Amino acid sequence: MLSYRHAFHAGNAADVLKHAVLTYCLDYLGQKETPFLAVDTHAGAGFYSLTEGYAAQNREWERGIGRLVDQTALPPLLARYAALVKETLGVELPRYPGSPALIQRLLRGQDRAVCFELHPADFTALEENFSADHRFRLLREDGLGGLKALLPPPSRRACVFIDPPYEMKSDYAAVPEHLAEALRRFPTGMYITWYPLLGRRSGAESGGEGAALRETLLGLYGGNRCAVELRTAKPPTLPASPRMYGSGLVIYNPPWTLRGALEESLPVLVGRHELSCVYLRKNK
Ligand SMILES: C[S@@+](CC[C@H](N)C(=O)[O-])C[C@H]1O[C@@H](n2cnc3c(N)ncnc32)[C@H](O)[C@@H]1O
Repeated sequence: MLSYRHAFHAGNAADVLKHAVLTYCLDYLGQKETPFLAVDTHAGAGFYSLTEGYAAQNREWERGIGRLVDQTALPPLLARYAALVKETLGVELPRYPGSPALIQRLLRGQDRAVCFELHPADFTALEENFSADHRFRLLREDGLGGLKALLPPPSRRACVFIDPPYEMKSDYAAVPEHLAEALRRFPTGMYITWYPLLGRRSGAESGGEGAALRETLLGLYGGNRCAVELRTAKPPTLPASPRMYGSGLVIYNPPWTLRGALEESLPVLVGRHELSCVYLRKNK
């Protein structure tokens, strides 16, 4: 089943958190001349219009990137990301950059990217947007299943971005299963994994499957790792509500400066009704 279309959610608060962190991590890898590999296991289309089509229906971007682009004096992590987004937001055809577009912007001549996408329409768009770039390999394959064959990369430097839609419950088990194998092959890689916080019949207070996944992922790896969460609403009180009230990222081997950068940035992302928290666990 592939009914999820990221265009509905492009530029929302969850995208801002994940894309700002991805940008920060790729910038960090770009500080050394040695090449790196960027892997996007769930790439989407690459670019999205915010004014037409799916994104214009619910206008989720207004509470995400819409809050950032006109602000001056942002903390550096957000300022850098907002500047990259502004570069691609044209006047006639506003284009919001998804993860492959940010990767493309931050890749240098010596770096490479591999993007997986299963949805036929999104894969076609991905090909249209990136196939001319010789640094990119685009695969219409399962990104979790395809990851292990790429690891470790020859340069032993990589950022793996794992951003599943979780429309299939099996993603919650598949993500740690494949991450365990990836870590076995390449424990020093940088991995960024996104998860949603959903209210559910059981576990609404604890964030349901997403929060359970966060704990599983934090326990899977004994090296440096952290989790950051942005809650955009209070957890739903109706027992059966599946509403998403926030999301988070678990990051393995994050840049050592990430925690400080996030602590400066999260208050800016947090609006009047929002809650946020950062978790960080270092080496045992
Ligand atoms: C949350 S969206 C990705 C958004 C994108 N990473 C970004 O930040 O711009 C998830 C994407 O994964 C695709 N997808 C779902 N299952 C997949 C799988 N097993 N392998 C690769 N792509 C998959 C969906 O079609 C969807 O486009």
